[in-house]
Amino acid sequence: MFPKEVYWKRRKRLREQVGSGILLLPGNNESAMNYRANTYHFRQDSSFLYFFGISQPGLAAICDIDAGEDILYGDDLEIDDIIWMGEHPTISELAGSVGAERSRGSAEFSADVQKALEQGRKVHLLPAYRGDQLLRLADLFGCSVGEVNGYVSEEFIKAVVALRSVKDAFEIAEIEKAVDVAYIMHTTAMKMGFPGNFERELAGAIEGIALSHGGPVSFPIILSMDGQTLHNHDHSNELVEGRMVVTDAGAETSLGYASDITRTFPVGGKFSGRQRDVYEIVLKASMEAIQHTRPGTRNLDLHLGAARTIAEGLKGLGILTGNTEDIVAAGAHALFFPHGLGHMMGLDVHDMEGLGEDYVGYDESVSRSDQFGLAYLRMGRELKEGFVFTIEPGCYFIPALINLWKKEGKHKEFINYSKAESFIGLGGVRIEDDVLVTATGHRVLGTPIPKTVEEVEATMHS
Ligand code: GLY
Repeated sequence: MFPKEVYWKRRKRLREQVGSGILLLPGNNESAMNYRANTYHFRQDSSFLYFFGISQPGLAAICDIDAGEDILYGDDLEIDDIIWMGEHPTISELAGSVGAERSRGSAEFSADVQKALEQGRKVHLLPAYRGDQLLRLADLFGCSVGEVNGYVSEEFIKAVVALRSVKDAFEIAEIEKAVDVAYIMHTTAMKMGFPGNFERELAGAIEGIALSHGGPVSFPIILSMDGQTLHNHDHSNELVEGRMVVTDAGAETSLGYASDITRTFPVGGKFSGRQRDVYEIVLKASMEAIQHTRPGTRNLDLHLGAARTIAEGLKGLGILTGNTEDIVAAGAHALFFPHGLGHMMGLDVHDMEGLGEDYVGYDESVSRSDQFGLAYLRMGRELKEGFVFTIEPGCYFIPALINLWKKEGKHKEFINYSKAESFIGLGGVRIEDDVLVTATGHRVLGTPIPKTVEEVEATMHS
């Protein structure tokens, strides 16, 4: 954990920002996989981790704004638990370790919330996303499960987003650790990227690397020769010469911070001319977006810049035609770049997405577009010092989408469909880095992961 003052100060600032009432932070519980005692890997709620830092099931917390104190709720282990799970610090010791003023038994959580409700105090809740929490909260508020999120406090969400969006030095160091593990994961995948190996062998090896460094992967590994499927979790193909592998994978540190990196490499270690052409377009979009990253720049503008670079590159390949600005304004490039340039990153790989993507990525000055492709941009807002976010342009040849748009005649003034069809089978290229916004510009976090054509090929053969 970070020093206890870090958590204490975060909670103090949170209480100051919301103003009055009590703030509920129910921690996560174990989640059964196939029967009660056989559970999924435990993952604490990220906001609970941010304010209380304790990764343990069965905890809850209240920040009492009016009393100016924070209370940790949970039960000390009894001898039966100790036999199976070993000794753990008491709840009072845990509360002390994060600077919380008081600790109470878990049953007191409901009682204290009930009391606050009866007293007409404002009870602030964040959106719930797990079934057991929804049931527990429905019970607490005396409403149906479907009504629980009606109790969510926008004030609370906005305060949490404001605090968690700006990473401090402790957090940046943690994210860099996670990127350094991703370095080993990605260079290992590259070195295994030869015909005869199966995708599952690469995926298994790199998941093991994350685990051996103390955390799980930060999201299920995406690794496939069928990289045209953006989030492909199927790892059943045997690698064959002439294809490329998209690997989108990251690690989580023991404190819960994520990395999220994508690299694309050619099976066998040598890009073909056509693969290289598409790769270089995406690489240029990546480098330029990183270069333009600084406080005050809108991520929307970085995204549109990447879209222009990709459109320009595809014009060079004869796939698109016409004025680049017109192509991007119409959204024709999104046939090949159908996702956003990136998202916030931190304790969640899509940081704070559970609180509502638009609270995190948009504000009064930038609202989400409903145009295909641009609508998937998770963050359009202006960048600020301390933000950590991904820059992940991509270019894909998705047969179903090309066929659909062709049938509809969509953007046919800009798209050379027969040329586009000739690229089907190339799959996709995505390149992703984790970038910190600094006072004067940016810093790509972690040990640089091979990225240029030459670096990727050299790593594969090293
Ligand atoms: N890298 C996986 C994702 O952003 O969803």
